[in-house]
Amino acid sequence: MSTETWWLDETPIEHFLVDEYDIRAYVPSDVEMIVSAVTESIEHLRPWMPWVAFEPQSIEQRSVLVREWQSDWSNKKDFNFGIFAGDNHVGSTGLHPRSDRGCLEIGYWVHAKHLNRGIATLAAQTMLEAAFGMKPVLAVELVHDSKNVPSRRIAEKIGFVLHEEFLKVDDSYYSHVASAPAESGVMCRWRMSRDRWSTLWGENH
Ligand SMILES: CC(C)(COP(=O)(O)OP(=O)(O)OC[C@H]1O[C@@H](n2cnc3c(N)ncnc32)[C@H](O)[C@@H]1OP(=O)(O)O)[C@@H](O)C(=O)NCCC(=O)NCCS
Repeated sequence: MSTETWWLDETPIEHFLVDEYDIRAYVPSDVEMIVSAVTESIEHLRPWMPWVAFEPQSIEQRSVLVREWQSDWSNKKDFNFGIFAGDNHVGSTGLHPRSDRGCLEIGYWVHAKHLNRGIATLAAQTMLEAAFGMKPVLAVELVHDSKNVPSRRIAEKIGFVLHEEFLKVDDSYYSHVASAPAESGVMCRWRMSRDRWSTLWGENH
């Protein structure tokens, strides 16, 4: 396992309009919306997202982070997208190199007031399109704690294949990630190959 992206010589499309949602790369002017959305969702995110231990962050701290995200994007290292419904920041998604060469992992969270409307499923489908729009990407993964039922459901709905279950402590990437309070430490890694995605979700479907 590696978090290197030397194999990736492209960046994804920056802006998708899907149904009523804009799924797009973050820009510095999003900072206040991000701070509000995370703050309003903090107790909903805390059980599953280890980074919430460092929240809430100030506008200044978050501005630094957004600049890092922009730099990572230009350097083809990591890709963070906001999910917007009009002026509302309803969630976040992204493509992250946490696995093998040719593989990116999808991440997401949804604002506490916008759950169970299919937003994360739509975001994950959009991230598949974004990832496979880049020729070097051969597979996309979705990784969640085995107790995270909504995430399991999203993987099943989209047609990911359960690749393996593993212990967080045994994984070279995840062993360095702090645990969130609800996590069991048993992780599920789902995978979608480019071929499977084309068959399930390609132009003719
Ligand atoms: C996981 C998360 C992103 C899902 O967002 P969402 O927009 O509500 O997800 P969707 O509406 O696309 O799909 C959720 C599915 O899980 C199902 N679900 C939700 N809670 C459930 C529960 N407790 N038991 C069983 N199924 C559940 C929903 O019914 C839906 O399935 P359906 O379409 O078959 O009815 C959101 O709950 C979240 O932000 N969680 C905290 C952060 C997190 O866990 N991120 C992922 C880390 S891997």
